Amino acid sequence: MFSHEKIETNVILMSVLTLLTVSIGGLVEIVPLYTIESTIERVKGMRPYTPLELMGRNIYIREGCYLCHSQMVRPFRDEVERYGHYSLAAESMYDHPFQWGSKRTGPDLARVGGKYSHEWHAAHMTDPRSVVPESIMPAYPFLREHALDADDIAEHLKTNKAIGVPYSDDMISNAADDIVNQADPENGDPDALQERYPKAAIGDFDGDPARVTELDALIAYLQVLGTLVEFGELTAEDLRQ
Ligand code: HEC
Repeated sequence: MFSHEKIETNVILMSVLTLLTVSIGGLVEIVPLYTIESTIERVKGMRPYTPLELMGRNIYIREGCYLCHSQMVRPFRDEVERYGHYSLAAESMYDHPFQWGSKRTGPDLARVGGKYSHEWHAAHMTDPRSVVPESIMPAYPFLREHALDADDIAEHLKTNKAIGVPYSDDMISNAADDIVNQADPENGDPDALQERYPKAAIGDFDGDPARVTELDALIAYLQVLGTLVEFGELTAEDLRQ
């Protein structure tokens, strides 16, 4: 056996033994991770975004909404009482990139889905002061003027699939139709959409049934946030993560 004095007075021996110890520690922590499929526990109800929601999410990122809004309810009592159940890792498992955010000039949006009507969101996005007089949120009136540019929607689904979001071939080949199926049910097949994406909200979101706009997509996205996991149905076992 080495005596400590021998090790501590020999810088090479000290370095070699330190490296050896650190690598064993590292291996013990890292190697088991290779044997499991995912470090995120799956939770019932999570599904990939519909093509319309995904486009809305892209607009959310383009407009920098994350600079003022977080999407993560932390497990503290004040947060849970205000926003609802704390966020689970699985709830953002299909988000590339995630929108947890780090600043809350406005409220957290992780569970805003279903909190307001589509009409409220349309009015709020066009002129926040019309529904919340004291609001300091910027207005985004141009969103309802811009037709949604979704020509490359199938490519967005494919790209997400390449990084692990389980979009099926059926979802990808129907991506363009599913935009119409969700935002323009009169001219589409909403049942087929809901078969592919359970619980998707259907309807004209922006109050203008004549065309699908960026506002339709953004509201469809806001309305799905936090609505997929039914917390009442989960057991304590499901939540231990
Ligand atoms: C400069 C900061 C700022 C930016 C940027 C911003 N917001 Fe807000 N947002 C606020 C504030 C402040 C409120 C609270 C007052 C209100 O309801 O208007 C708010 C409220 C909201 C609400 C209502 C939340 C609730 O639970 O009542 C939604 C939805 C929302 N914002 C969506 C968005 C979207 C989508 C974008 C990007 C297009 C965006 N915001 C950009 C500051 C911002």
